[in-house]
Amino acid sequence: MNNKIDVLLGLQWGDEGKGKIVDVLTPQYDIVARFQGGPNAGHTLEFGNIKHVLHIIPSGICHKEKVNLIGNGVLVEPLILQNEVASLENIGFSPKDNLYVSKKAHLILPTHRMLDAANEKSKGAQKIGSTLKGIGPAYTDKVARTGLRVGSIFSSDFENLYRKASNAHLSQIKALGYDYNEFKIDGESFEEYEAKWLKSLETLKQLTIVDSEYFLEEALASGKKVLAEGAQGSMLDIDFGSYPFVTSSNTITAGVCSGLGVAPSKIGKVFGIFKAYCTRVGSGPFPTELFDADGEKMRQQGREFGSTTGRARRCGWLDLPALKYACMLNGVTHLMLMKIDVLKNFETINICEKYEINGELTERVPYEVDAEIKPVYSVQKGWCADVDGKKSFEELPSEMQAYVNVIEEKMSLPVAVISTSPNREDTIIRTEL
Ligand code: GDP
Ligand code: IMO
Ligand code: MG
Repeated sequence: MNNKIDVLLGLQWGDEGKGKIVDVLTPQYDIVARFQGGPNAGHTLEFGNIKHVLHIIPSGICHKEKVNLIGNGVLVEPLILQNEVASLENIGFSPKDNLYVSKKAHLILPTHRMLDAANEKSKGAQKIGSTLKGIGPAYTDKVARTGLRVGSIFSSDFENLYRKASNAHLSQIKALGYDYNEFKIDGESFEEYEAKWLKSLETLKQLTIVDSEYFLEEALASGKKVLAEGAQGSMLDIDFGSYPFVTSSNTITAGVCSGLGVAPSKIGKVFGIFKAYCTRVGSGPFPTELFDADGEKMRQQGREFGSTTGRARRCGWLDLPALKYACMLNGVTHLMLMKIDVLKNFETINICEKYEINGELTERVPYEVDAEIKPVYSVQKGWCADVDGKKSFEELPSEMQAYVNVIEEKMSLPVAVISTSPNREDTIIRTEL
C-alpha cells in the first residue's frame, strides 16, 4: 500500500494548539515530521503531571516507538536542539533513539541570531516582533545559497565554512551601524555562546542524520503512516501572510512538499487547527483585536503568554474571513477547534463574518497591510459552564454546541476535533480521522 502523508497545521497566527493535537494523534502514525520553521515555534504538550514545550523537535517525541523527523525545510539551531534533547531526557524520554534529522536542513548560526536582533533594532517602530531565533537571516542565507546545512558539519572544511559565514554576518551587523557586542544571545556574549554552539554540533552528530526525502518515500511505500506537523500559522506565511509582518517560511500545506520532499499528489488529509478566538504575537494587522476587558479576559483565561518568548499575546474574536482564506490556501479537509473552554463567562461571543474597508463589505483578506478594517460581527450567546473532562459533544453546554454548529455551517467543513483543556485527555474526537 502506498500511503499518503497527512498534514496538521495552524490556520491563524500560530499557537493554535498544534503541539497538543500532534501528541494526541501520534499513536495513529509511525512518523511525525516537521517541515518548516525552527526554534521560533513553541509547541506545548501536557499529559500526566508533565507540561513540556518543544521548539525544534516534533511533537510526537513523547511516544518512544515513533520516529520524529526534522525535515529539510526546518532550521536547526544545534545548541537549542541539544538543550531540548537534554530536557526530554530529564523527564524520562530518550530522543536520541527516535529523532531523525535531514541532512538538508539548514543551520542557524549564533551570528544569525545577532543579525536578527540587529535587523529588528534597525527597523525601530516598524519591527516585525521576531522571536530573535535567527529565522529571517538563516532563511535569507538558504535562499542566497550561502547557508550551511546539517550535512556540512561532517565536512573536513566545516570550520572554514563556518568562519566565512559568521564573519559575513558580523560585517552585516557592522554595516547596519551596530557593534555586535551589544547583542547578547540568550543572555550570553557572542564568544561564550559560540563556544557552546560549536560543542553542541557533537550532539547533533549523534542523532540519526538521513536523506529524509528517500526515508519518507520508502516509509510511505511500505505502508507507514506519516503526519506532517506545521509550525507558526497560515496568516504568518511568507507569501500569503500580512507581509512583511510574517515569518520567513511557507507555513501552508504547499510547504510540506518542499519542506519534506514529497509530491503534491502524496498529500492526504489536511487538519486545520484554530482557536475559538484569535491571538497574535508580534507586530502586524489583527482586524478583530480587542483592547478592552474582554481581550484581557481571553488572555487570562487562555493563559495567552508566548511559549517561546513569554510575551503577552494579543487577543480578539474569531475571524472568519481569515479562517476561510487559510482553508482555501491549505485545502483543509478537517477542522480542529481548540481552547473553546477559554470562552466561558462571556455573556455574548462575537464572530467576525465580514470586513468593512473604506465603506465596502468584503470577505477577502486585503493586500494592503495598513488597510483600515472594521470587523462586522454576528453575536452568539455565551455560556458559564466548565467543560474540561467532558468526553462528548452532547455533554457540552447547548450554547457551545450552537457556537460549533455556526462555525461548521459558515466554513462548510466539519469540526472533527474539539479541545477543552491543555491536557491530552480532554479532546473530543467526533469523526474517525
Ligand atoms: P502551538 O504553538 O500551536 O503548539 O500552541 P502553543 O503550545 O504555543 O499554545 C497553545 C497553549 O494552549 C498551550 O499552553 C497549550 O497547553 C494550551 N492549550 C491547548 N489546547 C487547549 C485547550 O483546548 N484549552 C486550553 N485552555 N488550553 C489549551
Ligand atoms: P508556533 O509554532 C506565534 C511570529 C513572531 C513574529 C513573526 C516573525 O508556536 O505557533 P520569526 O521569529 O519567525 O522571524 O518571527 O512570527 N511567530 C510566531 N507567533 N507562534 C509561533 O510559532 C511563531 N513563530 C513566529 O512573533 O511576529
Ligand atoms: Mg506556540
